[in-house]
Parts: sequence; structure tokens; C-alpha cells
Amino acid sequence: MSSKHGIIEKNIGLMILLIVIAISFGGLAQIVPLFFSEETTKPIEGLKPLPALALEGRDIYIREGCHVCHTQMIRPFRSETERYGHYSVAGEHVYEHPFLWGSKRTGPDLARVGQRYSDDWHRVHLYNPRDVVPESNMPAFPWLFDNQLDGSETAAKMRALRMVGVPYEDADIENAEAQVKGKTEMDALVVYLQQLGTLIQEKR
Ligand code: HEC
Repeated sequence: MSSKHGIIEKNIGLMILLIVIAISFGGLAQIVPLFFSEETTKPIEGLKPLPALALEGRDIYIREGCHVCHTQMIRPFRSETERYGHYSVAGEHVYEHPFLWGSKRTGPDLARVGQRYSDDWHRVHLYNPRDVVPESNMPAFPWLFDNQLDGSETAAKMRALRMVGVPYEDADIENAEAQVKGKTEMDALVVYLQQLGTLIQEKR
């Protein structure tokens, strides 16, 4: 063995430093191109920013921690595509800040749950999951029926998203409050759920 290599092997501090440098280059080579690749940055055909009510629903989804039990990322495995539909593609998620892919799969993946159930099913299920799925251990969210939205912050949220590249039009922002005001949190959440993954649907 050459003596230079011996120096590295006998000096753990130097070895750690060199390993970190080596891994950083590997990471850069893998990650940086993703910022420039069309496949990961270009919206899929037909993708639109979330309408006002669905946007509020998304924030409720985050507030209630739905993403802690549910992923929104169908992996390209047969076991998942047979169950949930077409695997997720990056272009579906380019307008999401933050993205909600999640990692804990306590409940089913929700990336393509849109239109799979009726609005009423979701309402009953969210009011008390056990009423429709007796063995469910999902928590109940009954307060969503009582909490009303006033829409006073929706336009500001849209403007903030526009700053990071979500193409909201002025008209979307002007109408935001009117579309949200008076609706319940349940209305918003169901509208959000019903559009999930619907741009790419295939027969299941
Ligand atoms: C503690 C974990 C947990 C949390 C938090 C949770 N869920 Fe669930 N969810 C589950 C489990 C387990 C199931 C499967 C049983 C059932 O359908 O109730 C499920 C099922 C679902 C389904 C049906 C999916 C399908 O394909 O059949 C939807 C929709 C859903 N959850 C939405 C939500 C929403 C919206 C929230 C947040 C308001 C939420 N969940 C929070 C665990 C959770």
C-alpha cells in the first residue's frame, strides 16, 4: 500500500474530511442537474395553480397533519401502481410549496384519491372514519364542519405563491376572498382532496 494512503487510513479526522468532500461531489453531481432538467421543473400538461378554496383546503390538510400519515407519492412499483394508479411524476408537483409527498405510510397514499369517492363519502369519513371503514384507526376531524373560513388571507397566500413562481392571475387573486368566504373548512378540504392527481388518471 502506498504510504500516502496509509496517512489517510491512520488519521481518522482527515479521513472523515475527505469522505465528506467525496460525498458532496457525488451529491452535487446527482442533485444539481435536477434543478435544470425539464422533466423535474416543467409542469405537466393542463396543470393549474390550485383554485382559492382548494388552496385553503391544502392548508387545512397541512394544519391537521394529514401528511404525517398519508403520502402523496406513488412509487413506480407494481404493488403501488395496481393499487393507486399511475406513479407520481415531478411535473405534477411543481406548483407545490411545500410539497406534501410525506414519508410515513400509516394510511393509503392519497396522490390520486381525487374523484375516487363522492364528496359525501369524504364528509362522513372525516367526521368519523369508523362510520365507513369500521377497522380504521384514522382520527376523526369533526370540527372541520364547524369552522368557517372568511377568506381574508387567501389573496395574500396566492400573492406569496406567485412570488415563488406559481402562475396565479390577477383575477384569481381578486376573486379569492369571495370564493372562500362563508365556506366551512370541511368544504375546502374536500375540494382539495377531490382534485388530487386527477390530471393523470388511468383505469384501475
Ligand atoms: C393517524 C394517522 C392518520 C391521520 C393523521 C390521517 N389519516 Fe387518513 N387514513 C388513515 C388510515 C389508517 C386510513 C385507512 C382506513 C380508512 O380508510 O379510514 C386512512 C384513510 C384515508 C382516506 C381514504 C383513502 C383511500 O384510498 O381509501 C382519506 C381520503 C384520508 N384518509 C384522508 C385524510 C385526511 C384529509 C387527513 C387529515 C385531515 C387524514 N386522512 C389524517 C390514517 C390517518
